[in-house]
Amino acid sequence: MSHADDRSFSLSAPPELVDSGLLKFFVPRFSLKHAVRVEIVDDESAAVARLNRAEKGRLVFSGLQRDWYIEVVDGTGTAAAKRFEEWLAGSVGQKTIASFKVDGEQAFLPAAIARERAVAPKISGDAVVGEALAVRHCGRCHMVNEKTRLTTIGSTPSFALLRGFPDWNDRFEAFFVLRPHPAFTIVEDVTEPFDKSRPSPIVPITVTLKDIKAILAYVSEMEPADLGSPLKLQ
Ligand code: HEC
Repeated sequence: MSHADDRSFSLSAPPELVDSGLLKFFVPRFSLKHAVRVEIVDDESAAVARLNRAEKGRLVFSGLQRDWYIEVVDGTGTAAAKRFEEWLAGSVGQKTIASFKVDGEQAFLPAAIARERAVAPKISGDAVVGEALAVRHCGRCHMVNEKTRLTTIGSTPSFALLRGFPDWNDRFEAFFVLRPHPAFTIVEDVTEPFDKSRPSPIVPITVTLKDIKAILAYVSEMEPADLGSPLKLQ
């Protein structure tokens, strides 16, 4: 392996992904951190790393109504491309993807969520268990149900209000990457331990993906708040 092989590689992606702006968002972040130059090319056969929707390689995120994979093939820059794959599939890359916004809206979801979706496209899980979990974990701040009306933080949106968003499902699936939650939420096998220099400011929430599915099942059965006008959250 030559030095150059470790310092740059070519990456291809379908035009719709390039047009979304996502590559421009995460490629420079990876390049800066790892001192690797990424050349984006149109032609898949000219690239060693290929973002694709043809289920080739590893599932890395979903968005634009489909799941996206990365395939790394042998060629110039394979070693660097493999490092990119690991970064993209790891917690930093996944958080970077989740933080990308189009018109203020989250546009892509990390792979852990996409994988859960592929396994269970319909909402499953036990809504009763979900309610108990939501009261315990989320009821510290959110009004989850009537029982939590008085114990919660008034300025935090209620679950009924959030349920009224057309994309409530996406928001709840990804709540742990949406602020303020990353600072205090641990999702087993998904999130990295907190940065030692920035410990959780409150007793952390620890949940599993299964718990999140149960909470989703509960929320799906909730009556959305009817405010009579389009909802807005800053
Ligand atoms: C320590 C307080 C706190 C806890 C605990 C908490 N949240 Fe939140 N959550 C907030 C605040 C504050 C907001 C509003 C953020 C904003 O307006 O930008 C919020 C917003 C949300 C949103 C909307 C996010 C968006 O950007 O659209 C969802 C969904 C959500 N919370 C789900 C949950 C779930 C599920 C749990 C429990 C597993 C939970 N939260 C626990 C404080 C909390």
